[in-house]
Amino acid sequence: MSILDRLKEFREEEKRLTWEGTFREYLEIIKEKPEVAQTAHSRIYNMIKDAGVEEIDGKRSYKFFSNEIYGLEEAIERLVEEYFHSAAKRLDVRKRILLLMGPVSGGKSTLVSMLKRGLEKYSRSEDGAIYAIKGCPMHEDPLHLIPHHLREDFYNEYGIKVEGNLSPLNMMRLEQEYGGVIEEVIVQRILLSEDRRVGIGTFSPSDPKSQDIADLTGSIDFSTIAEYGSESDPRAYRFDGELNKANRGLMEFQEMLKCDEKFLWHLLSLTQEGNFKAGRFALISADEMIVAHTNEAEYKSFISNKKNEALHSRIIVMPIPYNLRVSEEEKIYKKMIKDSDISDVHIAPHALRVAAIFTILTRLKESKKQGVDVLKKLKLYDGQTVEGFNTQDVEEMKKEYQDEGMTGIDPRYVINRISSAIIRKELSSINALDVLRSIKEGLDQHASISKEDRERYINFISVARKEYDEIAKKEVQKAFVYSYEESAKTLMDNYLDNVEAFCNKNKLRDPLTGDEMNPDEKLMRSIEEQIGISENAKKAFREEILIRISAYARKGKRFDYNSHERLREAIQKKLFADLKDVVKITTSTKTPDENQLKKVNEVIARLIDDHGYNSVSANELLRYVGSLLNR
Ligand SMILES: Nc1ncnc2c1ncn2[C@@H]1O[C@H](COP(=O)(O)OP(=O)(O)O)[C@@H](O)[C@H]1O
Ligand SMILES: [Mg+2]
Repeated sequence: MSILDRLKEFREEEKRLTWEGTFREYLEIIKEKPEVAQTAHSRIYNMIKDAGVEEIDGKRSYKFFSNEIYGLEEAIERLVEEYFHSAAKRLDVRKRILLLMGPVSGGKSTLVSMLKRGLEKYSRSEDGAIYAIKGCPMHEDPLHLIPHHLREDFYNEYGIKVEGNLSPLNMMRLEQEYGGVIEEVIVQRILLSEDRRVGIGTFSPSDPKSQDIADLTGSIDFSTIAEYGSESDPRAYRFDGELNKANRGLMEFQEMLKCDEKFLWHLLSLTQEGNFKAGRFALISADEMIVAHTNEAEYKSFISNKKNEALHSRIIVMPIPYNLRVSEEEKIYKKMIKDSDISDVHIAPHALRVAAIFTILTRLKESKKQGVDVLKKLKLYDGQTVEGFNTQDVEEMKKEYQDEGMTGIDPRYVINRISSAIIRKELSSINALDVLRSIKEGLDQHASISKEDRERYINFISVARKEYDEIAKKEVQKAFVYSYEESAKTLMDNYLDNVEAFCNKNKLRDPLTGDEMNPDEKLMRSIEEQIGISENAKKAFREEILIRISAYARKGKRFDYNSHERLREAIQKKLFADLKDVVKITTSTKTPDENQLKKVNEVIARLIDDHGYNSVSANELLRYVGSLLNR
């Protein structure tokens, strides 16, 4: 669909979502669909739940988060169950500020922004629909119109609990515009939107001296005050603080603990009592979720301050640690790169994985279990099998430390190092070694790393590098093995022809020239030596093979590559030794012969076609593996 069609469609959609009617009509809507009147917390919980839940290995994964947040299933499950779910049921946690606590760049802001974007979308859906008194700057809940003394009757009839008082502004409007006839008050459907400041707000503290509480709670409107004659006339007040605007939805409080206390008290009153004080008015009721984030150090200094004691009990802290699984970390990098301006650079296979191995190592704590080093722990956490350990062990390891994942290298650092390597060297292709090198260089410039940590981290770089060496060797082998079955068969046929001639004391015929020639002793030995057959034992071995072949022939079976275990092993080893030679050649100054060149090119083509390399990274890989094999 073209963009113009999409715009038109969008406009029609907006129109379709518009609804306006009297309070009387609104009551009909909620009679049919009481969830329309749910609290902000309940709406947020339902939004998360409605997106679906997957059970993976007995763990819950909330789809709402899973396509953007990786490796935090446990933290998210806790957040959803202990906070959102309980808050939706109007339990006491709802009355507390949600504080996400975790290390820098661990996904806290991402999480909050998903909630915001999610709410915007959800309010446009059937299930997430939401209504407000028309013309109210705080999009006040229409049910606030129901007088307190009738709320019990209302509950009996509709099954809906009404909390909160009608705001001073709407109280006045009810009298003046509607002559006190509640049923006639106009209600409209609202669509939450941060840009339009409907139901979603963000507050971030600026300089404490210049910060104005009005940013939170609104302020007197001096342009209209003359008209209305008094500061306590609600029409002379602008209800445009973040707390006002975020009513019915969510407000994000950035850097909450850096904020002046007087701001916190407003929040606390709001979360605790469901209302806050603005201007010279009675308390204003609001229904919104407040979510803040902070790091561990800030949180610790906050709670160690006696002055803040009363505040602690009104905050619910949810830890958001770093991801601890290599495969998930790789996904985080991929996502971040996709969203960045280096998305068109070729990143060689395994480069991100190797970086992730390094990163996760910096986050893990040494297990107290026997025989587990951090690398093994890393593999176990990632769901790989490590001999001698089972899933039970992994669960026990996870329980060893409450605060694992609260320190270490953050994903943004890795992405910055990748970008900087690319930009500095003007690379169009980057491999695992480039990445590790750049990470290492960066550690020296990293101001917030202690000397001890730096040493530990440098050591982890070598661990990651060793892992890469293994990966790289396997990768080349795998690519080589492509023509493996065929090469193995050819080599074996060749060997058997020679063995036959040797045992029968015959000559062989050169397939090209037709000339007679002696059995190729060098070839036979090069294979036999692979499995340690000595010069003295070679004759017996060759005869044994001939006997096996004739036994097969008598039974009408074909002797093939798999018919003799030791021979097969010898052939495989020989092939790999040849591979080494081929790979070594590519790294030396010697020019490969035609046959070797052909093999090299085959391997490179294979790496490009099937394993995600480009010609630069494939050549780099071969050269590197060559140098490894030369050691
Ligand atoms: N577990 C994770 N899953 C997905 N992305 C993550 C994760 N942790 C960090 N990120 C990414 O790292 C970057 C920094 O995260 P951010 O949400 O700003 O962290 P914080 O607010 O905790 O400092 C973002 O691009 C984010 O998408
Ligand atoms: Mg952040």
